[in-house]
Amino acid sequence: MHPMLNTAVKAARRAGKVIMRYANQLDRLTIESKGRNDFVSQVDREAEAEIIEVIRRAYPGHAFLAEETGRRGDGEFLWIIDPLDGTTNYLHGYPQYAVSIGLHHQGKPSQAVVFDPLKNELYTASRGAGAQLNDRRMRVSGVTQFSNALLATGFPFRDMEHLEVFIDTFRAVLPQVSGVRRAGSASLDLAHVACGRLDGFWEFGLSPWDMAAGCLLVEEAGGLVGDFAGGKSQIETGRVVVGSPKIYAEILRAIQPHLPAAWRIAS
Ligand code: IPD
Ligand code: CA
Ligand code: CA
Repeated sequence: MHPMLNTAVKAARRAGKVIMRYANQLDRLTIESKGRNDFVSQVDREAEAEIIEVIRRAYPGHAFLAEETGRRGDGEFLWIIDPLDGTTNYLHGYPQYAVSIGLHHQGKPSQAVVFDPLKNELYTASRGAGAQLNDRRMRVSGVTQFSNALLATGFPFRDMEHLEVFIDTFRAVLPQVSGVRRAGSASLDLAHVACGRLDGFWEFGLSPWDMAAGCLLVEEAGGLVGDFAGGKSQIETGRVVVGSPKIYAEILRAIQPHLPAAWRIAS
């Protein structure tokens, strides 16, 4: 395993311990609201502090972009961290959340870890070296028919400005596929595409830490990843489509007519 990936795994497991320690005493947590429908708890903060401490000890010169503490440092290595992806689920005891740690080197995804502490499932990838689920090689699904595809998406939940756009894309996709899930953790949605449990995923309004790790997992598992315009600006725009190659193309095609002009493929 690449030494930087090894460090990321160690950090993710530490955060997983914090998350599990509090999971049975949710009523004792201190919870604050960052804004409408946007909560942060001491678990998010403690888990993030653990992750940064582990990584910083190994790589003191690296920079961080972390959900709760923001951007720190600069340089060619940037760790992009979501200490608890699926906070709303977690606070409700709904069993779908994960730790997400991605490393970008000179602006390109280089290492990725998504850790599901409830299932003890560790998803990892290193650029050019493939992707693993608990040390076994993972591949995206072989589904080629859109009508057989099981997809995931994310509903807008903070900012309702584009709710109609979401509903329109949903209305276009749903009748064409086998099903669409909204489980509430983008990093796990991406990890589940990478391991073939889901055939594709689309969402907009995401932050870099929701997807930095998951996008590399999908690519290294043989899937395609992009923004809504057929480009690669997903980290910057927060708009992402992923899938096994055929399904990626079908999602992109299905949503195009329903997107604001600035988001879609130029015609
Ligand atoms: C959220 C989850 C959710 C997605 C949101 C994210 P958080 O992350 O990934 O699935 O729909 O856009 O913000 O806030 O639980 O870390
Ligand atoms: Ca998140
Ligand atoms: Ca989070």
